[in-house]
Amino acid sequence: MDMSRRTVIAAATAAGLTAAAGVGTAHASPGGRPAKELFGRLADGTKVHRWSLENGGTRLKVLSYGGVVQSLEIPDRHGRYRNVVLGFAGLDDYVAKSPYFGALIGRYGNRIAKGRFTLDGTTHQLSVNDGVNSLHGGAQGFDKRVWDVAGFTSGTDVGLVLRYTSADGEMGYPGTLRAKVTYTLNRHGDWRIDYEATTDRATVVNLTSHVYWNLAGEGSGSIYDHELEIAAARYTPVDTGLIPTGELARVTGTPFDFRRTKTVGEDIRVGHQQLLYGQGIDHNWVLDKGISARPEHIATLRDPSSGRTLRISTTEPGLQFYSGNFLDGTLLGTGGHIYRQGDALCLETQHFPDSPNHPSFPSTVLRPGRTYRTSTVHSFGP
Ligand code: BGC
Repeated sequence: MDMSRRTVIAAATAAGLTAAAGVGTAHASPGGRPAKELFGRLADGTKVHRWSLENGGTRLKVLSYGGVVQSLEIPDRHGRYRNVVLGFAGLDDYVAKSPYFGALIGRYGNRIAKGRFTLDGTTHQLSVNDGVNSLHGGAQGFDKRVWDVAGFTSGTDVGLVLRYTSADGEMGYPGTLRAKVTYTLNRHGDWRIDYEATTDRATVVNLTSHVYWNLAGEGSGSIYDHELEIAAARYTPVDTGLIPTGELARVTGTPFDFRRTKTVGEDIRVGHQQLLYGQGIDHNWVLDKGISARPEHIATLRDPSSGRTLRISTTEPGLQFYSGNFLDGTLLGTGGHIYRQGDALCLETQHFPDSPNHPSFPSTVLRPGRTYRTSTVHSFGP
Protein backbone atom coordinates (compact mmCIF):
# COMPACT_ATOMS: atom_id res chain seq x y z
CA MET A 1 0.00 0.00 0.00
CA ASP A 2 1.34 3.40 -0.88
CA MET A 3 1.20 6.47 1.34
CA SER A 4 -1.84 7.91 -0.41
CA ARG A 5 -3.81 4.81 0.50
CA ARG A 6 -2.75 5.03 4.15
CA THR A 7 -3.88 8.63 4.15
CA VAL A 8 -7.36 7.95 2.78
CA ILE A 9 -7.88 5.08 5.22
CA ALA A 10 -6.87 7.29 8.13
CA ALA A 11 -9.22 10.01 6.88
CA ALA A 12 -12.09 7.56 6.44
CA THR A 13 -11.58 6.13 9.92
CA ALA A 14 -11.60 9.60 11.41
CA ALA A 15 -14.85 10.33 9.57
CA GLY A 16 -16.43 7.16 10.95
CA LEU A 17 -16.81 5.70 7.46
CA THR A 18 -15.28 2.35 8.30
CA ALA A 19 -18.18 1.49 10.57
CA ALA A 20 -20.66 1.65 7.70
CA ALA A 21 -19.45 -1.44 5.86
CA GLY A 22 -19.73 -5.12 6.65
CA VAL A 23 -22.30 -7.81 5.95
CA GLY A 24 -22.21 -9.70 9.21
CA THR A 25 -22.06 -9.48 12.93
CA ALA A 26 -18.59 -10.88 13.67
CA HIS A 27 -15.98 -8.18 13.32
CA ALA A 28 -12.26 -8.73 13.48
CA SER A 29 -10.21 -5.79 14.67
CA PRO A 30 -7.56 -4.60 12.21
CA GLY A 31 -4.52 -6.87 12.51
CA GLY A 32 -6.23 -8.84 15.28
CA ARG A 33 -7.20 -12.49 15.46
CA PRO A 34 -9.78 -13.60 12.87
CA ALA A 35 -13.29 -13.84 14.32
CA LYS A 36 -15.62 -16.76 13.64
CA GLU A 37 -19.42 -17.04 13.62
CA LEU A 38 -21.97 -19.63 12.56
CA PHE A 39 -23.11 -18.89 8.99
CA GLY A 40 -25.51 -21.79 8.42
CA ARG A 41 -25.98 -25.53 8.27
CA LEU A 42 -25.96 -27.94 5.36
CA ALA A 43 -28.94 -30.27 4.85
CA ASP A 44 -27.16 -32.99 6.88
CA GLY A 45 -26.65 -30.60 9.79
CA THR A 46 -22.96 -29.84 9.14
CA LYS A 47 -22.11 -26.39 10.48
CA VAL A 48 -20.65 -23.78 8.14
CA HIS A 49 -18.73 -20.91 9.72
CA ARG A 50 -17.87 -17.48 8.46
CA TRP A 51 -14.52 -15.98 9.38
CA SER A 52 -13.81 -12.26 9.40
CA LEU A 53 -10.35 -10.80 9.18
CA GLU A 54 -8.99 -7.36 8.58
CA ASN A 55 -5.54 -5.91 8.04
CA GLY A 56 -3.92 -2.97 6.28
CA GLY A 57 -7.27 -1.59 5.11
CA THR A 58 -8.61 -4.84 3.57
CA ARG A 59 -11.54 -6.73 5.10
CA LEU A 60 -12.26 -10.32 4.21
CA LYS A 61 -15.15 -12.65 5.04
CA VAL A 62 -14.50 -16.31 4.30
CA LEU A 63 -16.79 -19.33 4.56
CA SER A 64 -15.64 -22.79 5.60
CA TYR A 65 -17.89 -23.99 2.74
CA GLY A 66 -15.71 -23.99 -0.37
CA GLY A 67 -13.25 -21.56 1.23
CA VAL A 68 -15.57 -18.98 -0.32
CA VAL A 69 -14.56 -15.33 -0.10
CA GLN A 70 -18.04 -14.01 0.58
CA SER A 71 -16.98 -10.41 0.91
CA LEU A 72 -13.81 -8.42 0.30
CA GLU A 73 -13.95 -4.74 1.16
CA ILE A 74 -11.42 -2.13 0.11
CA PRO A 75 -11.59 1.67 0.10
CA ASP A 76 -11.88 3.90 -2.94
CA ARG A 77 -9.78 7.02 -3.48
CA HIS A 78 -11.90 8.84 -0.86
CA GLY A 79 -11.68 6.03 1.69
CA ARG A 80 -15.19 4.70 0.97
CA TYR A 81 -15.40 0.97 1.46
CA ARG A 82 -17.33 -1.35 -0.86
CA ASN A 83 -17.53 -5.09 -1.14
CA VAL A 84 -15.85 -5.74 -4.52
CA VAL A 85 -16.65 -9.45 -4.98
CA LEU A 86 -19.87 -11.14 -6.09
CA GLY A 87 -21.56 -13.52 -3.69
CA PHE A 88 -24.73 -14.46 -1.85
CA ALA A 89 -26.15 -13.38 1.51
CA GLY A 90 -27.00 -16.93 2.65
CA LEU A 91 -25.61 -20.47 2.55
CA ASP A 92 -28.55 -22.02 0.67
CA ASP A 93 -27.80 -20.07 -2.50
CA TYR A 94 -24.12 -21.11 -2.38
CA VAL A 95 -25.19 -24.75 -2.14
CA ALA A 96 -27.98 -24.59 -4.73
CA LYS A 97 -26.78 -22.34 -7.51
CA SER A 98 -23.41 -20.72 -7.12
CA PRO A 99 -21.35 -20.31 -10.31
CA TYR A 100 -18.30 -20.78 -8.07
CA PHE A 101 -18.63 -17.30 -6.47
CA GLY A 102 -15.43 -16.66 -4.49
CA ALA A 103 -14.69 -20.37 -4.15
CA LEU A 104 -11.55 -22.47 -4.00
CA ILE A 105 -11.40 -24.66 -7.09
CA GLY A 106 -10.02 -28.20 -7.10
CA ARG A 107 -8.85 -30.66 -7.87
CA TYR A 108 -8.58 -29.14 -11.31
CA GLY A 109 -9.31 -25.51 -12.25
CA ASN A 110 -11.15 -25.23 -15.57
CA ARG A 111 -11.95 -28.02 -18.02
CA ILE A 112 -10.62 -31.49 -18.74
CA ALA A 113 -11.88 -32.72 -22.12
CA LYS A 114 -14.49 -35.47 -21.84
CA GLY A 115 -13.48 -35.68 -18.16
CA ARG A 116 -10.78 -38.13 -19.16
CA PHE A 117 -7.00 -38.33 -19.02
CA THR A 118 -4.31 -40.98 -19.08
CA LEU A 119 -1.47 -41.01 -16.59
CA ASP A 120 1.28 -43.66 -16.45
CA GLY A 121 -0.76 -45.84 -18.81
CA THR A 122 -4.00 -45.75 -16.81
CA THR A 123 -7.03 -43.86 -18.10
CA HIS A 124 -9.10 -42.08 -15.47
CA GLN A 125 -12.74 -41.09 -15.97
CA LEU A 126 -13.70 -37.99 -13.98
CA SER A 127 -17.08 -36.60 -12.99
CA VAL A 128 -18.51 -34.82 -16.04
CA ASN A 129 -20.50 -31.68 -15.20
CA ASP A 130 -20.16 -29.30 -18.20
CA GLY A 131 -21.66 -30.93 -21.26
CA VAL A 132 -19.27 -33.78 -22.04
CA ASN A 133 -16.42 -32.17 -20.10
CA SER A 134 -15.32 -31.93 -16.46
CA LEU A 135 -15.26 -28.38 -15.08
CA HIS A 136 -13.60 -27.15 -11.87
CA GLY A 137 -13.08 -30.60 -10.34
CA GLY A 138 -16.45 -32.16 -11.27
CA ALA A 139 -19.94 -32.17 -9.79
CA GLN A 140 -18.73 -31.99 -6.15
CA GLY A 141 -15.47 -30.11 -6.41
CA PHE A 142 -13.53 -28.38 -3.64
CA ASP A 143 -15.94 -25.44 -3.93
CA LYS A 144 -18.69 -27.67 -2.45
CA ARG A 145 -16.68 -29.15 0.43
CA VAL A 146 -16.53 -27.97 4.00
CA TRP A 147 -12.92 -27.12 4.81
CA ASP A 148 -11.25 -27.25 8.23
CA VAL A 149 -10.38 -23.64 8.98
CA ALA A 150 -8.08 -22.17 11.63
CA GLY A 151 -7.33 -18.49 12.17
CA PHE A 152 -3.85 -17.19 12.93
CA THR A 153 -1.79 -14.09 13.52
CA SER A 154 1.92 -14.12 12.74
CA GLY A 155 3.99 -10.98 13.24
CA THR A 156 1.97 -8.31 11.44
CA ASP A 157 0.10 -10.88 9.28
CA VAL A 158 -3.41 -12.16 9.87
CA GLY A 159 -4.78 -15.21 8.13
CA LEU A 160 -6.62 -18.47 7.81
CA VAL A 161 -5.36 -21.96 7.10
CA LEU A 162 -7.91 -24.09 5.23
CA ARG A 163 -7.49 -27.84 4.89
CA TYR A 164 -9.36 -30.44 2.92
CA THR A 165 -8.46 -34.09 2.29
CA SER A 166 -9.89 -35.49 -0.92
CA ALA A 167 -10.25 -39.28 -0.85
CA ASP A 168 -8.60 -41.53 -3.44
CA GLY A 169 -11.06 -41.75 -6.34
CA GLU A 170 -13.12 -38.71 -5.37
CA MET A 171 -14.70 -37.29 -8.55
CA GLY A 172 -12.63 -39.91 -10.40
CA TYR A 173 -9.20 -38.50 -9.49
CA PRO A 174 -6.50 -40.94 -8.37
CA GLY A 175 -4.71 -40.57 -5.03
CA THR A 176 -5.59 -39.18 -1.63
CA LEU A 177 -4.96 -35.47 -2.05
CA ARG A 178 -4.25 -33.43 1.07
CA ALA A 179 -4.82 -29.78 0.23
CA LYS A 180 -3.82 -26.84 2.40
CA VAL A 181 -4.65 -23.28 1.40
CA THR A 182 -3.47 -20.24 3.38
CA TYR A 183 -5.19 -16.88 3.04
CA THR A 184 -2.98 -14.11 4.47
CA LEU A 185 -3.68 -10.39 4.85
CA ASN A 186 -0.50 -8.45 5.47
CA ARG A 187 -0.13 -5.00 7.03
CA HIS A 188 -0.35 -3.41 3.56
CA GLY A 189 -3.75 -5.04 2.97
CA ASP A 190 -2.43 -7.49 0.36
CA TRP A 191 -4.37 -10.74 0.14
CA ARG A 192 -2.04 -13.66 -0.52
CA ILE A 193 -3.09 -17.23 -1.30
CA ASP A 194 -0.63 -20.07 -0.82
CA TYR A 195 -1.75 -23.45 -2.15
CA GLU A 196 -0.13 -26.73 -1.10
CA ALA A 197 -1.01 -30.34 -1.82
CA THR A 198 0.45 -33.81 -1.45
CA THR A 199 -0.73 -37.16 -2.78
CA ASP A 200 -0.17 -40.87 -2.13
CA ARG A 201 -0.59 -41.82 -5.84
CA ALA A 202 0.38 -40.00 -9.02
CA THR A 203 -2.40 -37.57 -9.90
CA VAL A 204 -3.08 -34.19 -11.51
CA VAL A 205 -3.82 -31.00 -9.61
CA ASN A 206 -4.54 -27.38 -10.53
CA LEU A 207 -5.93 -25.29 -7.68
CA THR A 208 -7.24 -21.75 -8.04
CA SER A 209 -9.60 -19.15 -6.60
CA HIS A 210 -12.79 -18.14 -8.40
CA VAL A 211 -13.39 -14.60 -7.14
CA TYR A 212 -15.68 -12.44 -9.31
CA TRP A 213 -14.33 -8.87 -9.18
CA ASN A 214 -16.24 -5.65 -9.61
CA LEU A 215 -14.05 -2.90 -8.19
CA ALA A 216 -16.91 -0.39 -8.28
CA GLY A 217 -18.77 -2.66 -5.84
CA GLU A 218 -20.77 -5.87 -6.29
CA GLY A 219 -24.19 -5.21 -7.78
CA SER A 220 -23.15 -1.81 -9.17
CA GLY A 221 -23.40 -2.75 -12.87
CA SER A 222 -21.00 -3.95 -15.53
CA ILE A 223 -17.20 -4.10 -15.50
CA TYR A 224 -16.82 -3.04 -19.14
CA ASP A 225 -15.28 0.30 -18.06
CA HIS A 226 -12.65 -1.41 -15.89
CA GLU A 227 -9.14 -1.02 -17.31
CA LEU A 228 -7.06 -4.16 -17.60
CA GLU A 229 -3.49 -4.99 -18.44
CA ILE A 230 -2.21 -8.58 -18.79
CA ALA A 231 1.48 -9.36 -19.36
CA ALA A 232 0.95 -12.06 -21.96
CA ALA A 233 1.79 -12.21 -25.67
CA ARG A 234 -0.09 -15.47 -26.19
CA TYR A 235 -3.32 -17.16 -25.18
CA THR A 236 -4.81 -20.62 -25.65
CA PRO A 237 -7.64 -20.59 -28.25
CA VAL A 238 -10.49 -23.02 -27.56
CA ASP A 239 -13.01 -25.14 -29.45
CA THR A 240 -16.80 -24.82 -29.13
CA GLY A 241 -16.69 -26.71 -25.81
CA LEU A 242 -14.08 -24.23 -24.46
CA ILE A 243 -11.34 -26.88 -24.57
CA PRO A 244 -7.92 -25.54 -25.70
CA THR A 245 -6.96 -26.58 -29.21
CA GLY A 246 -3.32 -26.85 -28.07
CA GLU A 247 -2.19 -23.79 -30.00
CA LEU A 248 -0.43 -20.95 -28.16
CA ALA A 249 -1.71 -18.14 -30.36
CA ARG A 250 -0.29 -14.63 -30.49
CA VAL A 251 -2.56 -11.89 -29.09
CA THR A 252 -1.23 -9.31 -31.59
CA GLY A 253 -4.07 -7.80 -33.60
CA THR A 254 -6.78 -9.70 -31.67
CA PRO A 255 -9.25 -8.67 -28.92
CA PHE A 256 -6.99 -10.71 -26.59
CA ASP A 257 -4.19 -8.16 -26.62
CA PHE A 258 -4.15 -6.58 -23.14
CA ARG A 259 -0.40 -5.85 -23.11
CA ARG A 260 -1.34 -2.20 -23.39
CA THR A 261 -4.01 -1.22 -20.83
CA LYS A 262 -7.48 -1.06 -22.36
CA THR A 263 -11.01 -1.34 -21.02
CA VAL A 264 -12.61 -4.76 -20.73
CA GLY A 265 -15.43 -3.57 -22.99
CA GLU A 266 -13.26 -2.07 -25.74
CA ASP A 267 -13.09 -5.17 -27.94
CA ILE A 268 -15.63 -7.46 -26.32
CA ARG A 269 -18.12 -7.10 -29.18
CA VAL A 270 -15.54 -7.52 -31.95
CA GLY A 271 -16.61 -10.22 -34.43
CA HIS A 272 -13.92 -12.73 -33.48
CA GLN A 273 -14.67 -16.47 -33.57
CA GLN A 274 -13.09 -17.02 -30.15
CA LEU A 275 -15.41 -14.44 -28.54
CA LEU A 276 -18.40 -16.25 -30.09
CA TYR A 277 -17.24 -19.53 -28.56
CA GLY A 278 -16.89 -17.98 -25.12
CA GLN A 279 -19.89 -15.61 -25.41
CA GLY A 280 -17.26 -13.06 -24.49
CA ILE A 281 -13.86 -13.60 -22.96
CA ASP A 282 -13.35 -16.98 -21.33
CA HIS A 283 -9.75 -17.81 -22.13
CA ASN A 284 -6.42 -18.71 -20.63
CA TRP A 285 -3.54 -16.27 -21.12
CA VAL A 286 -0.02 -17.70 -21.42
CA LEU A 287 1.83 -15.42 -19.03
CA ASP A 288 5.10 -14.08 -20.44
CA LYS A 289 7.00 -14.80 -17.23
CA GLY A 290 6.12 -18.53 -17.24
CA ILE A 291 6.29 -20.49 -13.98
CA SER A 292 8.23 -18.51 -11.38
CA ALA A 293 9.66 -19.42 -7.98
CA ARG A 294 8.18 -16.24 -6.46
CA PRO A 295 4.95 -14.42 -7.33
CA GLU A 296 5.61 -11.98 -10.19
CA HIS A 297 3.33 -9.22 -11.43
CA ILE A 298 1.04 -10.36 -14.28
CA ALA A 299 -2.06 -8.18 -14.35
CA THR A 300 -3.56 -4.89 -13.20
CA LEU A 301 -7.29 -4.15 -13.03
CA ARG A 302 -8.52 -0.64 -12.30
CA ASP A 303 -11.94 0.93 -11.95
CA PRO A 304 -11.52 4.56 -13.05
CA SER A 305 -14.75 5.68 -11.33
CA SER A 306 -13.66 4.69 -7.81
CA GLY A 307 -9.93 4.54 -8.36
CA ARG A 308 -9.82 1.06 -6.82
CA THR A 309 -6.99 -0.97 -8.28
CA LEU A 310 -6.12 -4.66 -8.08
CA ARG A 311 -2.63 -5.88 -8.93
CA ILE A 312 -2.02 -9.61 -9.25
CA SER A 313 1.27 -11.46 -8.87
CA THR A 314 1.60 -15.20 -9.17
CA THR A 315 3.96 -18.13 -9.48
CA GLU A 316 1.56 -19.71 -12.01
CA PRO A 317 2.06 -19.80 -15.80
CA GLY A 318 -1.57 -19.06 -16.80
CA LEU A 319 -4.44 -16.69 -16.15
CA GLN A 320 -8.06 -17.54 -16.97
CA PHE A 321 -9.86 -14.28 -17.69
CA TYR A 322 -13.61 -14.87 -17.68
CA SER A 323 -15.82 -11.83 -18.32
CA GLY A 324 -18.89 -13.06 -16.42
CA ASN A 325 -20.59 -14.18 -19.64
CA PHE A 326 -22.94 -16.69 -18.10
CA LEU A 327 -24.39 -14.35 -15.44
CA ASP A 328 -27.91 -14.11 -16.80
CA GLY A 329 -30.03 -12.12 -14.38
CA THR A 330 -31.20 -15.14 -12.39
CA LEU A 331 -29.03 -14.68 -9.29
CA LEU A 332 -29.69 -12.27 -6.43
CA GLY A 333 -26.41 -11.04 -4.98
CA THR A 334 -25.17 -10.28 -1.46
CA GLY A 335 -26.35 -6.67 -1.43
CA GLY A 336 -29.79 -7.36 -2.95
CA HIS A 337 -28.99 -6.68 -6.60
CA ILE A 338 -29.51 -9.00 -9.56
CA TYR A 339 -26.36 -10.05 -11.40
CA ARG A 340 -26.38 -9.73 -15.20
CA GLN A 341 -23.87 -10.57 -17.93
CA GLY A 342 -20.59 -8.69 -17.49
CA ASP A 343 -21.34 -7.58 -13.90
CA ALA A 344 -17.97 -9.00 -12.78
CA LEU A 345 -14.88 -10.70 -14.11
CA CYS A 346 -12.67 -13.50 -12.88
CA LEU A 347 -8.87 -13.54 -13.10
CA GLU A 348 -7.95 -17.08 -12.12
CA THR A 349 -4.22 -17.80 -11.79
CA GLN A 350 -3.63 -21.40 -12.79
CA HIS A 351 -2.00 -23.98 -15.05
CA PHE A 352 -3.61 -24.22 -18.47
CA PRO A 353 -7.02 -25.87 -18.94
CA ASP A 354 -6.95 -29.51 -20.05
CA SER A 355 -3.18 -29.79 -19.45
CA PRO A 356 -3.44 -33.54 -18.69
CA ASN A 357 -4.38 -34.01 -22.37
CA HIS A 358 -1.74 -31.62 -23.76
CA PRO A 359 1.79 -32.92 -23.15
CA SER A 360 3.19 -29.64 -24.56
CA PHE A 361 1.52 -27.59 -21.77
CA PRO A 362 3.32 -27.15 -18.39
CA SER A 363 2.70 -30.33 -16.42
CA THR A 364 0.01 -30.61 -13.72
CA VAL A 365 1.16 -34.04 -12.55
CA LEU A 366 1.84 -34.45 -8.82
CA ARG A 367 3.64 -37.53 -7.55
CA PRO A 368 3.98 -39.00 -4.05
CA GLY A 369 6.86 -37.44 -2.12
CA ARG A 370 6.51 -34.10 -3.94
CA THR A 371 4.62 -31.06 -2.67
CA TYR A 372 2.48 -28.97 -5.01
CA ARG A 373 3.06 -25.30 -4.18
CA THR A 374 1.74 -22.18 -5.90
CA SER A 375 1.13 -18.63 -4.65
CA THR A 376 -0.89 -15.65 -5.81
CA VAL A 377 -0.90 -12.16 -4.29
CA HIS A 378 -3.67 -9.58 -4.74
CA SER A 379 -2.59 -6.02 -3.90
CA PHE A 380 -5.05 -3.16 -3.70
CA GLY A 381 -4.78 0.56 -3.99
CA PRO A 382 -6.83 3.62 -4.79
C1 BGC B 1 -14.79 -20.79 -16.73
C2 BGC B 1 -16.11 -20.52 -17.38
C3 BGC B 1 -17.20 -20.99 -16.46
C4 BGC B 1 -17.05 -20.30 -15.15
C5 BGC B 1 -18.05 -20.84 -14.15
C6 BGC B 1 -14.72 -20.05 -15.44
O1 BGC B 1 -13.52 -20.32 -14.80
O2 BGC B 1 -13.72 -20.42 -17.56
O3 BGC B 1 -16.22 -21.16 -18.62
O4 BGC B 1 -18.47 -20.77 -16.98
O5 BGC B 1 -15.77 -20.50 -14.62
O6 BGC B 1 -18.65 -19.88 -13.45
